[in-house]
Amino acid sequence: MQPVVLITGAAGGLGSAVARRFANGGWRVAATDLNAAGLQALGLQLPLAASLALDLGHATNCQTLLDEVLARCGRLDALVNAAGVWREGPVEACSEADFDLVLNVNLKAAFFTCAAAIAPLRVSRGTIINIASDAGHQGNRNAALYCASKGALTLLSKTLALDLAADGIRVNAVSPGDIATPMLDFQAERYGGGDPQGYKRDLLSLYPQGRAARFIRPEEVAELVWFLCQPYAEAITGANLAIDFGLSAGK
Ligand SMILES: NC(=O)c1ccc[n+]([C@@H]2O[C@H](COP(=O)([O-])OP(=O)(O)OC[C@H]3O[C@@H](n4cnc5c(N)ncnc54)[C@H](O)[C@@H]3O)[C@@H](O)[C@H]2O)c1
Repeated sequence: MQPVVLITGAAGGLGSAVARRFANGGWRVAATDLNAAGLQALGLQLPLAASLALDLGHATNCQTLLDEVLARCGRLDALVNAAGVWREGPVEACSEADFDLVLNVNLKAAFFTCAAAIAPLRVSRGTIINIASDAGHQGNRNAALYCASKGALTLLSKTLALDLAADGIRVNAVSPGDIATPMLDFQAERYGGGDPQGYKRDLLSLYPQGRAARFIRPEEVAELVWFLCQPYAEAITGANLAIDFGLSAGK
């Protein structure tokens, strides 16, 4: 029977690219997102073995998700946690609502989706990929909340890798730099002070490539996620893999 991948944030820029990569590779794709219309649109482009619109910021929904995926697909071979949200601004201006939103989506949702996935992944000796960020590897000015969420996600991934190694489950974090997705457009629109292109230029100015710097394509990150889920990547677990043009390599 074909292997099954469950992708959270599957209606998003990166999640949908991961879904496409695995569907092209012959896997069955279970897709979930808060955005029901986005999931529906994805279902018109790809065959989806399961499509579930859920808010994963609630732990009970994470368990419901896994129950539904197993009922519809019968097995789980890989979990890719790609749901995420961005907020930025100084710590003293951060609202409790934004704090709860970012931690609930970027950390709590991944934590409880991993927890619910462990039992079926023990059966398949499968893999978890948590999409973290360069912002989980080093501080990003003005983005303490997002950095805190992704730093925690990175160490969650490493600890799970240790805890689940004896079960044959591999767990890795993938940490992209800036990817050309709706999240990046949202950042630029909302925090660009009326100059979204200037916001994007400022981001690119941080890359070591200088004038040749460009945003990462979601398909490039999807290819790394695909690689990590293959048997030939058996030795890779507990890693935090940067895909960021060297952004996090040093000053
Ligand atoms: N775009 C970037 O520059 C960048 C860089 C590094 C890491 N990341 C991370 O990559 C992942 C994918 O982001 P993206 O760039 O594709 O962004 P995106 O906004 O295109 O996709 C994120 C998806 O998460 C979904 N989501 C949000 N809240 C949810 C919830 N409560 N329950 C379920 N789903 C929810 C959204 O509906 C959306 O479809 C995120 O974890 C993000 O933090 C993005």
